[in-house]
Amino acid sequence: MYNEIDWDMIDYNQEAPTEEPARQYYYIAKCREWTRKFERENGRLPRSCVVNMGCQMNARDSEKLEGILEQAGYEKTDREECADFVIYNTCTVRENANQRVYGRLGYLHSLKKKKPHLKIALCGCMMQEKQVVEKLKKSYRFVNLVFGTHNIFRFAELLNRMQSSDRMLVDIWEDTDQIVENLPVERKYSFKSGVNIMFGCNNFCSYCIVPYVRGREKSRKPKEILEEIRRLVSDGVVEVMLLGQNVNSYGKNLDEPVTFARLLQMVEQIEGLKRIRFMTSHPKDLSDELIRTMASGKKICRHIHLPLQSGSSRILKAMNRRYTKEQYLALTEKIRRAIPDISITTDIIVGFPGETEEDFEETLDVVRQVRYDSAFTFIYSKRTGTPAAAMENQVPEDLVKRRFDRLLSLVQEISREVSSRYTGQVKEVLAEEVNSQDASLITGRMDNNLLVHFPGTAADIGRLLPIRLDTCKGFYYMGSRV
Ligand code: 5AD
Ligand code: SF4
Repeated sequence: MYNEIDWDMIDYNQEAPTEEPARQYYYIAKCREWTRKFERENGRLPRSCVVNMGCQMNARDSEKLEGILEQAGYEKTDREECADFVIYNTCTVRENANQRVYGRLGYLHSLKKKKPHLKIALCGCMMQEKQVVEKLKKSYRFVNLVFGTHNIFRFAELLNRMQSSDRMLVDIWEDTDQIVENLPVERKYSFKSGVNIMFGCNNFCSYCIVPYVRGREKSRKPKEILEEIRRLVSDGVVEVMLLGQNVNSYGKNLDEPVTFARLLQMVEQIEGLKRIRFMTSHPKDLSDELIRTMASGKKICRHIHLPLQSGSSRILKAMNRRYTKEQYLALTEKIRRAIPDISITTDIIVGFPGETEEDFEETLDVVRQVRYDSAFTFIYSKRTGTPAAAMENQVPEDLVKRRFDRLLSLVQEISREVSSRYTGQVKEVLAEEVNSQDASLITGRMDNNLLVHFPGTAADIGRLLPIRLDTCKGFYYMGSRV
């Protein structure tokens, strides 16, 4: 394991090993030589700032970057102005995420003019898009390092090359079948952690860029996942979130295939682990075995995120989702029958090409029938290279905006009603942090993902506590200790 390694024992004057992760360990040792030199010259360690711009998968990748930086001898800062090295871990699911990156790069450029030694790196999904990298090469020459999602495990090596060069370094891979285990990770929370169980996606929903930037589905072996979780638990973690673009197809391509439900059963056996979450489930692949496993599980949170995307079977077909409105509704009913107190959340896209008023009404109808605990609603964003981007009947912006507002107000109205159903009950809450507005309160999470604020101190953080849910304030509760 990397935390048993004495970096100073690695002889980095020899040639770099070719096998992983030994090769990255070698480069971490080399980076340490550089940071020590920086410290001698400046009287302090270099500071790094990792900015996470995307989903949970992206956040977990950021923790891996931070793990490497920490071992390489950098001090962490949350403020870009104070950093000697800034790295943006980008997202590209929707176009506005890309625009934000260019905007922030403008700001970094002005910082760099004042502080020429500032190094800037970009990584993540957006870097897997060819036209983005072309634009960076042409108009953003002040960026020092650009790499993608497939070679993130090579970060130590790239960091080392960047430290000793002033030239723009670009390294993007088309794909990889490699999964490198045992690299350093620096967790954001001491008591909970994301755990990747698979990478990539094979579904090719027609609006989605993920399969192009994250590549084909690759599952980690159960043994590696279980070992990682055991290590996390011995390090104080009580809750894990199993991460994959479509966890329901976990394990299908392994040499010895394993179902996701079976993996969950194995994770449940880990002593000391209290809660298991997972994300995301594609409705087309959700098995009865999974429903049974969730219903009988003692640690699996009573929450399922089940993206609907659209309630219209016609639009779902154009989206290549491979289920109909009726199949989706039947599935949610089946889940509710087996697990009556389950909370169901979703993602919905408004304004997919060709969406008519009738199609949109179908979406509202599903929202009314399922009564989601909460829903992420998105305006359709045209992603170059996806089949939907080439569809002719794109919906006018103002019409989409009006539909979006209607959907949002319905979702919120239902969410308020549904969320309040626990008022007066005592529920187990995981204390997560001191409330940012009132330091006498702790903010925690119920197993259905709802937030609860209750009196407490920092000493409660990481503990599961019984809390009485006194008043529901829409999307969160005010509670008291029992
Ligand atoms: N436009 C809008 N929303 C999108 N999503 C994915 N691609 C797009 C797009 N092109 C949404 C989906 C997905 C969530 C992570 O992002 O709802 O479930
Ligand atoms: Fe995108 Fe569909 Fe894969 Fe989700 S399942 S990442 S929406 S292609």
